[in-house]
Amino acid sequence: MLRTNTCGELRIEHVGKSVTLCGWVQKTRKLGGATFIDLRDRYGITQLVFLGDDENSKTLGQEGFTREMVIKAHGTVVERESKNKNLPTGDIEIKLQNIEVLNKSITPPFTIEDETDGGDELRMKYRYLDLRRAIVRKNLELRHRLAIETRNYLDKLNFLEVETPVLIKSTPEGARDFVVPSRMNQNQFYALPQSPQTFKQLLMVSGFDRYYQIVKCFRDEDLRADRQPEFTQIDCEMSFVEQEDIIQTFEGLVKHLFKTVKNVDIAAMPRMTYADAMKYYGNDKPDTRFEMKFTELNDLVKNKGFKVFDDAEIVIGICAKGAAEYTRKQLDELTEWVKRPQIGATGLVYARHNSDGTLKSSVDKFYNEEELKKWSEALNSAPGDLILVLAGKEEKTRKAMSELRLEMGSRLGLRDKNKYSCLWVVDFPLLEWNEGDPNLLASLAGRWHAKHHPFTSPKPEDIALLKKSPGEVRANAYDMVINGVEVGGGSIRIHDKELQATMFDTLGFTKEEAQKQFGFLMHAFEFGAPPHGGIAFGFDRLCSLFGGAESIRDFIAFPKNNAGRDVMIDAPSEISEEQLKELSIETIIKTT
Ligand code: AMO
Repeated sequence: MLRTNTCGELRIEHVGKSVTLCGWVQKTRKLGGATFIDLRDRYGITQLVFLGDDENSKTLGQEGFTREMVIKAHGTVVERESKNKNLPTGDIEIKLQNIEVLNKSITPPFTIEDETDGGDELRMKYRYLDLRRAIVRKNLELRHRLAIETRNYLDKLNFLEVETPVLIKSTPEGARDFVVPSRMNQNQFYALPQSPQTFKQLLMVSGFDRYYQIVKCFRDEDLRADRQPEFTQIDCEMSFVEQEDIIQTFEGLVKHLFKTVKNVDIAAMPRMTYADAMKYYGNDKPDTRFEMKFTELNDLVKNKGFKVFDDAEIVIGICAKGAAEYTRKQLDELTEWVKRPQIGATGLVYARHNSDGTLKSSVDKFYNEEELKKWSEALNSAPGDLILVLAGKEEKTRKAMSELRLEMGSRLGLRDKNKYSCLWVVDFPLLEWNEGDPNLLASLAGRWHAKHHPFTSPKPEDIALLKKSPGEVRANAYDMVINGVEVGGGSIRIHDKELQATMFDTLGFTKEEAQKQFGFLMHAFEFGAPPHGGIAFGFDRLCSLFGGAESIRDFIAFPKNNAGRDVMIDAPSEISEEQLKELSIETIIKTT
């Protein structure tokens, strides 16, 4: 080793020890005759000093040690005169005898410190420098811990980690595939897996019984803070289980992670049906750190001459505790906020429950105090609270109210990132009607679409509805939601060939199409497929949740930006004509 110690480990008890450290120059400063260098590596920062009280250190102090230069420093650990309580190594410094420059550095484009002057794009372009910052590195250390503890937990329960291929055939999980042309099979393409779904099911047919994999998945969909085109799942599957077994096993995993990584005890996770989640929160991943549930007001507010409510499919209210003091200006601003296209409400009605008990609304012309009292009773408001009401088409209004609820939760400080509210959302609908989802291929519009994926089993008691009323069929599917984030989702699978064929039929596949795309799976089911089910956690999302951050990007070593680009290596990029020719891509549309 070039070094005896790291820059993070020397303490007062090492005083007198002769050491050699290696690292990057974070900062230098001169004070009187002395020169100080902050030397940084992955483990921390140690202060080096040339006191300039002998010829050797005088000479060393004259050298130009510039930022990010890589050096090897040899000296003795001494106690510092002025200690730095903010640094774990802050009691000591290294009195230098010798220093060697291992490599120079050009000036970095931003400061490599927690508070940096580099903007997002710049830091993404120089991600390898960004990763030198402790704050970013800590996120990856957390990711590592979570991966290790995941493996510990699952290994103890007899799960086997099995790798599945990355060059596969399309698995329709809901998004578009990334495809890879095959040179050896001209005009043919592999798809990158959206998840290892079909492979893990085939492993159950193989009798592997308990499988997991921490695995890269690829989805060509619109990106957001919690979505990357390539992301990582903790993907799991079990045989001879029912929904309850999966829920228990993986609730156990998440509790284990919270305990071992954050020392947080998580209580038994409540269950909420999809129907209730939509009714009370307008959202299938409710943030249950705070209440503020929806109350439907149709019966109370209609036929009083207020056209907006009279014409609405639904009128929904929420009660924002303690917000009656919102000024007119704040309420006008909130009204503009709900009218933004991303939220989509046409307006906002409010009623203040004043501290003297009186009620005052923005629609006093139509609703007298007596009527507002009924609103207050329905919403359980108390003096000091603010009632907010949205009205319109049902789906749109629920969606807008869900956003408004979250916004009010944030404004009122109810979404503490150090508080964890976990739940299972269960009884999802098996299918949803696809009006033309922009994240799906246009050819899938105007047909039923599997809400989870086409291998999810309907609830046995709902199978009879599959033909006559597909929209009412509930699935044996479940999501784990923490603080309003869908961290994982899974289902009990269909293991019967006939039921799987009916499902493909309902999804609008012809027999030939189903055979072509999924014949391998249906055929496998003829060889004794065990009942099975599983779940996959969004590993990046778990990491960001544990790290108290919104964006998953900060927990991925080399993430893509919002346009799906890696600006550091400049990908995606064009390929040469020679490559195109070899792959025969340029001619494909003409010849097929
Ligand atoms: P699903 O599609 O629900 O299920 O994905 C599982 C979990 O993966 C995370 N996730 C993502 N994270 C980051 N970026 C993305 N683009 C992204 N998409 C999904 C979410 C989600 O809950 N094969 C099934 C699982 C199963 O049935 O066992 C599947 O992939 O946290």
